[in-house]
Amino acid sequence: MDNRVYIFDTTLRDGEQVPGCGLTKDQKLKLAVALEDLGVDIIEAGFPISSPGDFNAVKAVAETIKESSVCALSRAVDKDIEVAAEAIKNAARPRIHTGIGTSDQHVFTKLRTTREVILERTHRCVSYARNFVDDVEFYAEDAGRTDNAFLAQVIQEAVSAGATVVNIPDTTGYCLPEEYGQKIKYLVDNVEGIENVIISTHCHNDLGLSTANSIAAIQNGARQVECTINGIGERAGNTSLEEVVMILKKHRWLDYETRIRTSELFPISRLISETMNMPVQPNKAIVGSNAFSHSSGIHQDGVIKNRDNYEIIDPAEVGVNKSSIILTARSGRAALNFRLSQLGFRPDKEGLEEAYQAFLEIADSVTVVEDKHLKQMMEDMPHLIKA
Ligand code: KIV
Ligand code: ZN
Repeated sequence: MDNRVYIFDTTLRDGEQVPGCGLTKDQKLKLAVALEDLGVDIIEAGFPISSPGDFNAVKAVAETIKESSVCALSRAVDKDIEVAAEAIKNAARPRIHTGIGTSDQHVFTKLRTTREVILERTHRCVSYARNFVDDVEFYAEDAGRTDNAFLAQVIQEAVSAGATVVNIPDTTGYCLPEEYGQKIKYLVDNVEGIENVIISTHCHNDLGLSTANSIAAIQNGARQVECTINGIGERAGNTSLEEVVMILKKHRWLDYETRIRTSELFPISRLISETMNMPVQPNKAIVGSNAFSHSSGIHQDGVIKNRDNYEIIDPAEVGVNKSSIILTARSGRAALNFRLSQLGFRPDKEGLEEAYQAFLEIADSVTVVEDKHLKQMMEDMPHLIKA
């Protein structure tokens, strides 16, 4: 099986559904260009039937983007599919993403229908979308909670009707990694012709498992990952693009590859955060402001000796200028000495001890000791400043 993993970015669709994250047409366009530069294979630009504004935004993205496929979401409804097709008709690589709920919860409680109707609508939506574009992705909403035997029947309908990609969303973020991986394997083993289509993962993070689930799916045959920058998305969010990409990159032995230019990960994280008014938690993997910061004395000493002691990623690999040593009351002499030398101060052993005691007093009164504090401290102790 091919080891290429396609990255399907849904920041502009699932990410944009988050309250307060709505984007104008111009903002979507700007972010789509940045996503294309990042190297994503597919950009899900929006849900065109949802509003005239989103229709126009998806249309503008479709008319601008040349390398990435541009995808439009629809429900399994003819009118939705027609509007999606119209929005992306000028795309260099258009894709329609259509689908329906398949779990008993969705079939009986949300859609209030029968499994037979779901199978008919699956066939209909895919074959109808194929009248407009060659690339049709089918999603089985709430596949995570769908009984595997019925899910296989649904996916069989989608494949027979001409789907090129089948998406198996864990819509509610319910699955465990092993369970989700087995679901993908079950489909690989039980759907005829599935080897001719791409299996996609689409995981939500309600239990904090979206990245682990996406990786488990890849290991069981999925070759497309749906994800967002910074993991933004409905409720607890979607799988984070930067996490999946860096896991595959760092674990080379897994032998999967993506086309993402990883040095753009940090810049695009900040661009998305600022444009969508969604702060990035400081301890967020890969792109959080603390992801390459070291504040405890033991860690700082280790990093100063050799960065690899406490970092598995070279910050430059993801577009971060350098790892930082944050000086707090938990820092040690090595870190203080390191920072003082960067500022041009080189106290001897006794001088460093005196400076360290003064530093601890400052550190106990401020959260983080900054360069301005250190400069003032050294000015207050002129006998430590060597000519
Ligand atoms: O979470 C989900 O199931 C979705 C689908 C519309 C793909 O976002
Ligand atoms: Zn989703």
